Amino acid sequence: MTDEPEPPLWEQWAARSAELPDGERLQKVLARAGWGSRRTCEDLVAAGRVTVNGEVAVLGRRVDPDHDLIEVDGAPVGVRPDLVHYLVNKPTGVVTTARDTHGRPTVVDLVPGEPRVFPVGRLDLDTEGLILLTNDGELANRVAHPRHGVDKEYLAEVEVAGPGGRVAPGALRALRDGVELDDGPTAPARVSQPEPGVLRITIHEGRNRQVRRMCDAVGHPVRRLVRTRIGPLADRSLAPGEWRPLTLAERAALTEAVARVAHRYDPPT
Ligand code: URA
Repeated sequence: MTDEPEPPLWEQWAARSAELPDGERLQKVLARAGWGSRRTCEDLVAAGRVTVNGEVAVLGRRVDPDHDLIEVDGAPVGVRPDLVHYLVNKPTGVVTTARDTHGRPTVVDLVPGEPRVFPVGRLDLDTEGLILLTNDGELANRVAHPRHGVDKEYLAEVEVAGPGGRVAPGALRALRDGVELDDGPTAPARVSQPEPGVLRITIHEGRNRQVRRMCDAVGHPVRRLVRTRIGPLADRSLAPGEWRPLTLAERAALTEAVARVAHRYDPPT
């Protein structure tokens, strides 16, 4: 008979809680994401190299790949060599569809042709600023999802008729609280006026021409609109028409932001 000591109580508890029946087995999710065979992925977990929502995972752990943040050696799962993510500063006059029936330039023309990428979400023809292009369908869906979408920040130069060229506090309040549009009220937004007649507006919905329609609704039509941030992604040094790949840290931050937003809307039961 062997005289194996019982594992400490905390470990027994952790092993049991890891066997909750919900979700998919962690090694299966890792294998699907390209980390090797299930056996190799089990070894990764056993070696303590995998974390789920920041905690080291134990073998047998089940996860919800749509909501849990899974990392191997600190890199979010999903960061695979075949996936590319470009941050592009879209100029006006460029469309955000992959192909345009009127022959106008598209954002896809601004980046390398291989591998093929597609824009995440849309910007109007006359809107400038940041847009993400990728072949990572899962991340794209989550960034653009109206419910789980990360927040997006815009600078809007608006028309102001009154004295001083400032938008009145009442209009700012209305934009913050939500305005009535023909497709329903807008969710609360963050709104400030860093310069007279220039609004910084942060929203997480992605409705068609939303910022323009919000500003119209409070009597201040937009003259110029620039998207300055997508969740954790911002870059003032990209000139219009320029692009660059996301850094690993940015990819990790984006994955984490999307997971955080998903948790906010679908808290674990
Ligand atoms: N809101 C708009 O009105 N237009 C855009 O291009 C993006 C957000």
